[in-house]
Amino acid sequence: MSKRCCFFATPILAILHNLALRYSYAAIYRAKQVDPKPQSCMFKKSNAYFKCIIIATSNYLNTIAGMCMLSGNLICKLFKGVELNFLELVNQRQSVRSYQKRGVDRDKIDRCIEAARMAPSACNSQPWKFVVIDDPELKNKVASSTYGNLVSINRFSVQAPVLVLVISERQKLSARFGSIVKRRQLKMIDIGIAAEHFCLQATEEGLGSCMMGWFSERRVNKLLGIPKSKRVELVISIGYSASDEIRSKTRKPIDEMRSFNKY
Ligand SMILES: Cc1cc2nc3c(=O)[nH]c(=O)nc-3n(C[C@H](O)[C@H](O)[C@H](O)COP(=O)(O)O)c2cc1C
Repeated sequence: MSKRCCFFATPILAILHNLALRYSYAAIYRAKQVDPKPQSCMFKKSNAYFKCIIIATSNYLNTIAGMCMLSGNLICKLFKGVELNFLELVNQRQSVRSYQKRGVDRDKIDRCIEAARMAPSACNSQPWKFVVIDDPELKNKVASSTYGNLVSINRFSVQAPVLVLVISERQKLSARFGSIVKRRQLKMIDIGIAAEHFCLQATEEGLGSCMMGWFSERRVNKLLGIPKSKRVELVISIGYSASDEIRSKTRKPIDEMRSFNKY
């Protein structure tokens, strides 16, 4: 979009600049030709020079705007090769378990939520709710529900400035019916997709994230007053990663997980 703006705005600004230039030269010329009769001379002269100043200022601003647009265009072209494509973004997303103290802008969090909101779901049920916890005291309490004395894998969550609870909500009747008849946990599939949309947008925002399936649901429910009828499916930590390193992914080879036209 911005590139398109640059593309069209640059020649338009150049034309405007040219017109303004011509007009100001004409005004200067007229100013020089001002009738030297005693009564009106001063007024006409100062009026004409005032016009000149206005036009010269607009010229100046036009030129600067034109230069900005041109350099914007150039920068767009220069950085085209650095833009992340989708697979690169996918590769950059990784479970981050060490965070800086820095807080996260709510705007950024909202864009992650927006990405989750746009996720597909069976019968468009959208069976989810995201609860963002960025109050440091409450966040620490929730973080302490993600690990215990025996299993401490999620102790890192205390470092994260923000935790997000992904709660599953009621599906549409049709999706529930489909889940039962086809014995498929469509709701869990929906939640998984939305959670990954969230994490990918977090990566796009320069944030690290980690999904956590290990936590005390009972304690989280109690802390946030979540009714027993609801289920907290995931806790996602987000924040600025303490390290720039992108680890190489440990994944099955492609031949092991894909086949064409047969199992
Ligand atoms: C449903 C789910 C639950 C997970 N639970 C945890 C968890 O409790 N603690 C944790 O440290 N990582 C958890 N992870 C992160 C995985 O360990 C991680 O995604 C996997 O090892 C791949 O590494 P990567 O995310 O860095 O690519 C979970 C991931 C998913 C999708």
